[in-house]
Amino acid sequence: MASTTRFGTRAVHAGSSPDPHTGAVISPISLSTTFAQKSPAVPIGKYEYSRSSNPNRDEFEQAVASLEGGKYGLAFSSGSATTATILQSLSPGSHIISGADVYGGTHRYFTKVAQSHGLETSFTTDLLTDIPSLVKSTTRLIWVESPSNPTLSITDIKAVAQLAKQYSLFLVVDNTFLSPYLQTPLALGADIVVHSVTKYINGHSDVVMGVAVLNDDDIYQKLVFLQNAIGAVPSAFDSWLAHRGLKTLHLRLRASSENAQKVAEVLASNIKTGKVLHVNYPGLEMHPNRRVVMQQHRDGLGGGMISFRVVGGRRGAEAFCQSTKIFTLAESLGGVESLCELPALMTHAGIHASERIKSGVHDDLVRLSVGIEDGDDLVVDVQQALDRATGQVNGVN
Ligand SMILES: Cc1ncc(COP(=O)(O)O)c(C=O)c1O
Repeated sequence: MASTTRFGTRAVHAGSSPDPHTGAVISPISLSTTFAQKSPAVPIGKYEYSRSSNPNRDEFEQAVASLEGGKYGLAFSSGSATTATILQSLSPGSHIISGADVYGGTHRYFTKVAQSHGLETSFTTDLLTDIPSLVKSTTRLIWVESPSNPTLSITDIKAVAQLAKQYSLFLVVDNTFLSPYLQTPLALGADIVVHSVTKYINGHSDVVMGVAVLNDDDIYQKLVFLQNAIGAVPSAFDSWLAHRGLKTLHLRLRASSENAQKVAEVLASNIKTGKVLHVNYPGLEMHPNRRVVMQQHRDGLGGGMISFRVVGGRRGAEAFCQSTKIFTLAESLGGVESLCELPALMTHAGIHASERIKSGVHDDLVRLSVGIEDGDDLVVDVQQALDRATGQVNGVN
């Protein structure tokens, strides 16, 4: 699919062409683990063994690469497996600089797994200011999540990419929270973009998968070797499902983003009513990095994720999550359905309380993944849950 076509056209057509044998418009799911050979080590077609590559994974990888504006896509069995494979490509003794409020599992991987392989990570809440003082002779990589999970802080990717170039470091950006529809980090100077495909790219909460997209031939050769050697690869069926999900990414992201804007505005209006302490949402004018959002996100859209602090401490936050009627209390995000969760007790429970609070993940912080239901219904649901939760805490009902 020509890179001159617009996003929606590429989402539907990239990596998809009619099956040459049957004309099927949608690719068949190629479940075979092995592929026949004409003579030893000379396969009939492109494929030999499904861990190394298979038609459905190939098509999905081509599609995501096209949407991220990259040359290569590499799919993995989860977002975490993507992180693990990239870190495995660094030699022991390497040093990484990471944003502090990254996904809890990424933080866990840096501190509890990568460390035992001889990798050291420094965390900072202000990458732009701190990179020069954190860089050492062993530093190889900068890891950015923007917006971050769960505080929705925004990093100026272009500015970090300039620093990365200055110090000859690789820049990896986790783009899970926005998807390539709202942000394309390679165009801003990143070397590798990663996703938990489990979230917006698949978009239907029925696949666990990850992907990395990049342009550099040497890094690609290293990672494609590790993709096969480590073998943390997705099944043909999951690749097929994720590719199907990807075809509506632009429609889902726009709808989620518009709904989230409405919900965030209602939450912000409850600061005055004394029910909400603070709202983190990149689409609000009050977001501290709104200027960067306007440059970095498509049409300045805020995305589908919001976090906010409810009055009443942890009890207030728990009561909110148990009072919603449309938002389901569950981990994960990026599906068509709306979800809510308490990071301090759920997704980020593994991070020590003092470090968690330093990054703004307070006990009363609620995270919302706003889906594509009717936005007005979501607003009504959030307001009634807020009224109930704060009423309960204050002993009103
Ligand atoms: C921003 C981010 N990156 C990476 C991951 C890990 O992805 P997975 O759950 O597919 O392993 C998650 C999971 O929640 C995430 O939110």
